[in-house]
Amino acid sequence: MDNRFNTIAGWALAGGIAALGLSIASGMYFHAERPEHMGYVIEGVEEASEGGAAVVAPIATRLASADLAKGEASFKKCMACHTINQGGANGIGPNLYGTMGEGIAQGKAGFAFSDALKAVGGSWDFDKMDAWLTNPRKFATGTKMTFAGIPDAQERANVIAYLNAQGSNLPLPAAPAAGAAPVEGNATDDHAAGGNLSNQATPAEGAPSTDPAAKAQAEKKGV
Ligand code: HEC
Repeated sequence: MDNRFNTIAGWALAGGIAALGLSIASGMYFHAERPEHMGYVIEGVEEASEGGAAVVAPIATRLASADLAKGEASFKKCMACHTINQGGANGIGPNLYGTMGEGIAQGKAGFAFSDALKAVGGSWDFDKMDAWLTNPRKFATGTKMTFAGIPDAQERANVIAYLNAQGSNLPLPAAPAAGAAPVEGNATDDHAAGGNLSNQATPAEGAPSTDPAAKAQAEKKGV
């Protein structure tokens, strides 16, 4: 009797453990949440919104809602190769302090940049940094930065805002009005100076003359 009870209890226990194991295992296999953004990007296809329309908000818009703390957290991905403190050492990649606004592939205590990145020219503005961090190899084919890129557009903006806050502090671009088309490839080095010309319209002297002809009265005196 006692023996039999133990046998039954043993099977019950074993069954319970097996069921638990199965539910954990199936949970791992079948309960994986669908990521907010899929981990791969199809060339030339922008991320689709739920409605199906392609929407990657312009970098200016994404920067306006960028989260520095999240950017700093994401920057951990970069720290295998980069320091970002002022005067930090170059590693596999160059120190990134004050990089925003600086010449692309220049300075950085003599870091040996690839010819591919040096050939890009110009300086790091928000658009270029966004393109670079989307896909380094596409931005500078042959670059030695062996980093796949950050597919999530807002995460990129967070990282760029964080980069900018480390020694650069470029003024953030004004977010375009909602619905405005994203400006692609604004590759010029405008330093946000902007000819702030005040409106110097010369005041008209005297009252503008009203057109007398318009006032011509057709005196049609009917009946
Ligand atoms: C596997 C190492 C590695 C990782 C990870 C990496 N980088 Fe780099 N990075 C490099 C190398 C190497 C270069 C130099 C590229 C060249 O010369 O072609 C570079 C260059 C750069 C430059 C250009 C600097 C300049 O002065 O022109 C920027 C900006 C940059 N990385 C940002 C980042 C950011 C941001 C991340 C994380 C999201 C990141 N990198 C992750 C290795 C890396």
